[in-house]
Amino acid sequence: MKKHNLIIFTILLYFLCSGTEYSMAGRTVSDFNRNWTFHLGDVLEAFSPGYKDNFWRSLNLPHDWAIEGEFSKDNPSGCGGGALPGGVGWYRKIFMLDNSTKSKKIFIDFDGVYMNSEVWINGTSLGKRPYGYISFRYNLTPYVKFGQKNVIAVRVDNSEQPNSRWYSGCGIYRNVWLTVVEPVHIDQWGTYVTTPIVSNKQAAVNVVTQIKNDSKSQTSIELRSQIFDNKGILIKEVSSTTDVSGEKSREVKQSIEFANPKLWSIETPYLYKLVSQICVDKKVVDQYETPFGIRNFSFDANKGFILNGIQTKIKGVCMHHDLGCLGAAVNKRAIQRQLEILKEMGCNGIRCSHNPPAPELLDLCDKMGFIVMDESFDMWRKKKTAHDYSRCFNEWHEQDLTDHILRDRNHPSVFMWSIGNEVLEQWTDASADTLDLQAANLLLNFKRDSKMLLQKGDSLSVNSLLTMKLANMVKALDPTRPVTAANNEPDPNNHLFRSKALDIIGFNYHEAYFKDVPKNFPGKPFIVTESTSGLMTRGYYRMPSDSMYIWPARWDIPFYDESFSCSSYDNCHVPWGTTHEDTWKLVKNNDFISGMYLWTGFDYLGEPTPYGWPARSSYFGVIDLAGFPKDVYYMYKSEWTKKDVLHIFPHWNWKPGEAVDIWAYYNNADEVELYLNGVSQGIKSKGKDSYHVMWRLKYTPGTIKVVSRKAGKVVLTKEIKTAGTPARIVLSADRRVITANGKDLCFVTVEIRDKDGNLCPNADNLINFNVAGEGRIAGVDNGSPISSESFKANFRKAFYGKCLLVIQATDKAGFISLKANSEKIKSNELLIKTTK
Ligand code: GAL
Repeated sequence: MKKHNLIIFTILLYFLCSGTEYSMAGRTVSDFNRNWTFHLGDVLEAFSPGYKDNFWRSLNLPHDWAIEGEFSKDNPSGCGGGALPGGVGWYRKIFMLDNSTKSKKIFIDFDGVYMNSEVWINGTSLGKRPYGYISFRYNLTPYVKFGQKNVIAVRVDNSEQPNSRWYSGCGIYRNVWLTVVEPVHIDQWGTYVTTPIVSNKQAAVNVVTQIKNDSKSQTSIELRSQIFDNKGILIKEVSSTTDVSGEKSREVKQSIEFANPKLWSIETPYLYKLVSQICVDKKVVDQYETPFGIRNFSFDANKGFILNGIQTKIKGVCMHHDLGCLGAAVNKRAIQRQLEILKEMGCNGIRCSHNPPAPELLDLCDKMGFIVMDESFDMWRKKKTAHDYSRCFNEWHEQDLTDHILRDRNHPSVFMWSIGNEVLEQWTDASADTLDLQAANLLLNFKRDSKMLLQKGDSLSVNSLLTMKLANMVKALDPTRPVTAANNEPDPNNHLFRSKALDIIGFNYHEAYFKDVPKNFPGKPFIVTESTSGLMTRGYYRMPSDSMYIWPARWDIPFYDESFSCSSYDNCHVPWGTTHEDTWKLVKNNDFISGMYLWTGFDYLGEPTPYGWPARSSYFGVIDLAGFPKDVYYMYKSEWTKKDVLHIFPHWNWKPGEAVDIWAYYNNADEVELYLNGVSQGIKSKGKDSYHVMWRLKYTPGTIKVVSRKAGKVVLTKEIKTAGTPARIVLSADRRVITANGKDLCFVTVEIRDKDGNLCPNADNLINFNVAGEGRIAGVDNGSPISSESFKANFRKAFYGKCLLVIQATDKAGFISLKANSEKIKSNELLIKTTK
């Protein structure tokens, strides 16, 4: 082999082997995230292959440049967008392709780029994609060179803000893949698996496969579809033969039946795998995998949600897409950790609010058992923020909605589509309604029989027609799941409801109207698409705990409180919301309510209601931005799980003589007794529809202890002691062994404790971190919504006694040593192992 061929071969081998996700007969899907260069700022010539980018920064994707920036009240995103920078950024990557790929088709797949991206290959523009939350593909085949350098350049423009509710992140913040296939191959998102017959005894699996023939000539193919169980054992296969004309696609329908299927459920999310093989002349030219689940479900107007024949309450949370100090940059382990914390609380549902999520989120929901409401848009034609997607809606919604549904419709965790959140088209007044009929028909007439559109004498508005159009588009692509929308107008005259196109009535808030749903929407199932919006700062308590703080008093009245904090007693919420207990009570006690998605599971960047600057992240989470549960987490855990729960709060460090309210969340017990320094302060029990007990005590230092009992037998005991001054740092890692793949994360909780090991509940010591060996600091946080410290520093102040350090493994197996120190208190160390 000549020397330069050897080099090319070696580069190619490296490129194919390093980080390759999988390579199967005829198809290689490579992790294309490594070795990009990045420049913040606009450079007009950067698209050109000859452009010299050697002064640019080298990095691996996914990447979010905003999270690396500084908080400022002057950043155009505003506090609502996280007060972090926007701007224009460029990415470039050089890659080689071997001559053996000459006959193949080569695609680049972006899971998401925020936003207004334009992609060039070797100087040719492949296209623009405005929507920052959508996945998209470009065909590189006509432009690539073999055995020579190819240059991909991506311009990302997030300069006009605000454009998203809430923090969007900036850049190529999701994964990128390079897909190489033979000319005859399965198309992008080219399988559709449905299960028309499901019982414990029998399953019928229908498979529709989209086969693309990018060669010039007609080809005879055999399509083999095989179903494997979760141990990789082949259950059944079918085979079909057909001809696909040159430069055409063909849809092949197959059906497979088998006995005794294992059903997918929240508790046992059993996954099968469909392996689709295309054979030409008995040779496998493509192989494609589709994980899927077998389950049956319905939404019922009287009984709510029924999964595999069992009435099941959806105990869900809304999640915005950021990952706290990691920003929007997708990391599978970070998403998994969020879901683990939620699952532990008993949560069984995720609403992707308000945009198509990262594919990894849905993969994890499939594996972990969550009921997902997958949402496409936060706005349609009417804008919510100055520069948002409404500007592109007319031009792009068909493509974006189609791609969203095609991408996600095989996920067993997805149970309903939401075509919009609180879109302003619910109401008439809008400019959308001023279109003349012709323009409206043009806009809305998407593959519909014109007789079904606005006719003379019809009272359906343009907004209702748009609702029908979107719902019908979804139905055409996936008739197996219901379509809903998140409405904050409960009146049946809401234009979305009037369309009659929504299969499930979805309300955001408006608890007082729940009871009228069966009367106002006869025969329609109902779900609380969004609820509660309680406000809490972990560790902060406002007394008396039985007085309510509605903050702000009205959404349009400016609010200020010098604490910049919200009380953790479940006694603070927005005027359109409720306490956590109040909404849960309604959802729990009414069978017709399928469930709820409370706002929100985790705090997120942006929307620091009720505050403005310096607040820059939300107070709504049941779990704070760093991933530390707030107290109400345990209310849900006590209601949503069968595990024994006894949680008391607040801490026990107050001013002598001060009246302090102690709350306890508990379950699996008849009563709880509280002792202060060994003296009983009384036994309390929850009444019907109450979810906590409370004692009001005069503070004296010492120990409070609670004991829960069932039929006289102790279930659990908990103690909180008055903490002394901070004495030492305690480190606890979520995992001590992580994978050396350049991606995996170790989340280290850092606590400030006194000499006896009690958490110091008001400690705000500054902790310095030193990370050495096979890891680096990926982020630091403490859950404070008002901190302006950088998420990317090697130090963090504790917030109410705690902070978080996130360490990312390198590619090399070995050890990561962490040293944490702080003035005047004892430092600590931790060793983490990384393995291949
Ligand atoms: C809802 C909205 C969410 C969030 C929430 C805060 O109306 O859908 O995006 O703003 O209010 O309470």
